Amino acid sequence: MSEKVTTATIRKMKAEGTPITMLTAYDYSMAKIVDDAGIDMILVGDSLGNVVLGYDSTLPVTVDDMVHHVRAVCRGVSRAMVVADMPFMSYQVSLEEAVRNAGRLMKETGAHAVKLEGGREFAGAVRAIVNAGIPVVGHLGLTPQYVHQLGGYRVQGKDTAAAEKMIDDALALEEAGVFALVLECVPSPLGRLITEKLRVATIGIGAGPHCDGQVLVVNDLLGLYPGHTPRFVKKYANLHEQVNGALKQYIDEVRERSFPGPEHSFTMSEEVLKKLY
Ligand code: KIV
Repeated sequence: MSEKVTTATIRKMKAEGTPITMLTAYDYSMAKIVDDAGIDMILVGDSLGNVVLGYDSTLPVTVDDMVHHVRAVCRGVSRAMVVADMPFMSYQVSLEEAVRNAGRLMKETGAHAVKLEGGREFAGAVRAIVNAGIPVVGHLGLTPQYVHQLGGYRVQGKDTAAAEKMIDDALALEEAGVFALVLECVPSPLGRLITEKLRVATIGIGAGPHCDGQVLVVNDLLGLYPGHTPRFVKKYANLHEQVNGALKQYIDEVRERSFPGPEHSFTMSEEVLKKLY
């Protein structure tokens, strides 16, 4: 449990059929909690854009945003493997830019791998980054960076042509050198089929129970949002309600002057006080 998780660990877990656990984190405190809980992989996802920065998509997230947050996460992690998402347009323009930006994410943060979205059309970028010595995780299915092309956030690979393309993309990414592949919003049987076809680990989010591992956005799992959560999310806690209750109690206690009490306050000698008065 205490040994650091590496690409070799992930390959071994796939070979031995040991489920891989992955969660997102975006800052030092949460990364520390998630790492202490014993998670195998931490993804600093570009979902950062929605979850932390308040954008309505992941498209505005920059490499600088990612560097800032991945650095904070790495400071809180001692065991898990940290994967840094490559944001929109950081690897789509040219192979050179893809390698340069992946290099920045590794050199400037302490991350152990990068993740990028897309299929066969990005096999060249994957190969170039891997050839530069950087481990890469792929991402197929619902790829939020291409939301406008996909026409919305919906389940992918439901018809024969789309499912066949996804299988072909998965094999192309494996061939290009990814050591793991995220499958997002994919029908369970397709998640299973791709998992069976690949030698590298699949990590599902809304891709059924047969993937080699599972990933969720930590804020979703903890119930930090009051609003709608996708069907594939299981809320293991309802922190929004708990945090809200705690904050309301604080506000009430300050207003009625019951906080701070003597146990939260500092004293001084009567003598000094007398002089001041
Ligand atoms: O950005 C992200 O959090 C992700 C996960 C949803 C897999 O890519």
